[in-house]
Amino acid sequence: MKGIILAGGKGTRLYPNTVSVSKQLIPVYDKPLIYYPLSSLMLAGIRDVLIISTPEDTPLYRHLFGDGAQLGMNISYAVQDSPRGLADAFIVGETFIASDSVALILGDNLFYGQYFSEHLERAVQRIDASGGAVVFGYPVADASEFGVVEFDADGNVRSIEEKPAKPKSNYAVPGLYFYDNSVVDIAKNVKPSARGEIEITSVNNAYLDKNNLHVVTFGRGMAWLDTGSVDAMLEAAEFVQTIQKMQGFYISCIEEIAWRRGYIGSEQLSNLGHALATTNYGQYLLRLAESGH
Ligand code: DAU
Repeated sequence: MKGIILAGGKGTRLYPNTVSVSKQLIPVYDKPLIYYPLSSLMLAGIRDVLIISTPEDTPLYRHLFGDGAQLGMNISYAVQDSPRGLADAFIVGETFIASDSVALILGDNLFYGQYFSEHLERAVQRIDASGGAVVFGYPVADASEFGVVEFDADGNVRSIEEKPAKPKSNYAVPGLYFYDNSVVDIAKNVKPSARGEIEITSVNNAYLDKNNLHVVTFGRGMAWLDTGSVDAMLEAAEFVQTIQKMQGFYISCIEEIAWRRGYIGSEQLSNLGHALATTNYGQYLLRLAESGH
């Protein structure tokens, strides 16, 4: 399975922060926002990643990650010349996806919690074994700003709606989606919505119509932070700071994940740590490399 991070858009809700810097490069505590979605794809076992961004910002992501070899990853880049909608990721990414299945994660979505990796690995296995689509449902206080999934009494998916004025449930669909290869053709046939975008919710509805959409619900122990406003950015930073200080484990440390998964060895982890040695982040990498666990 391949992975796409959608890291474009204008970031207008965070202006003036994002006038000259891409939203997904803004720090959430000690690392750029895009580290968080990249870590999610890595935890799913995905090593081929395409980062899609604007013409101005794509070179900045390349500067940050290069070809990904330092992490034992293959990272490539593609330009979305205007924000046509989330489903456009599969059209811009068509050559990259080729004949593979694909996961899409939004560049501003942050996930953290126990068993998250297992959820991801199960989603990949399901798609690779039987095709279709896997998305998630996450309980929120107000679902009206999100894609919303409605279940019947037996837990089957009844509907998915994009930003409904009156949500039929409190289950939002987070920006993390797993699809078989037919998503490319489905995306090409999606008609723009009232707000003029080709919506990911339309893609999910196409799978639902074919009885091929599987929704996994996250429980209480899972954190999903959508960093859509300055307050949400600050709350996310405080969340990361609190967990990291309390537990001593770093959240979404891509170098650590690469090392634990065996994509890089301790020597390379140590090299990466030395390059960042003036920060706690770099010191953390050096401690891991030294201790070996
Ligand atoms: O965060 C989860 C929600 O994300 C889902 O529940 C919704 O179903 C889904 O439509 C989406 O809603 P948003 O309104 O949050 O999407 P937004 O337009 O803000 O785009 C999400 C990110 O993707 C944002 O950081 C910018 C980037 N983006 C967006 C579009 C439309 C692109 O890179 N290209 C695009 O064409």
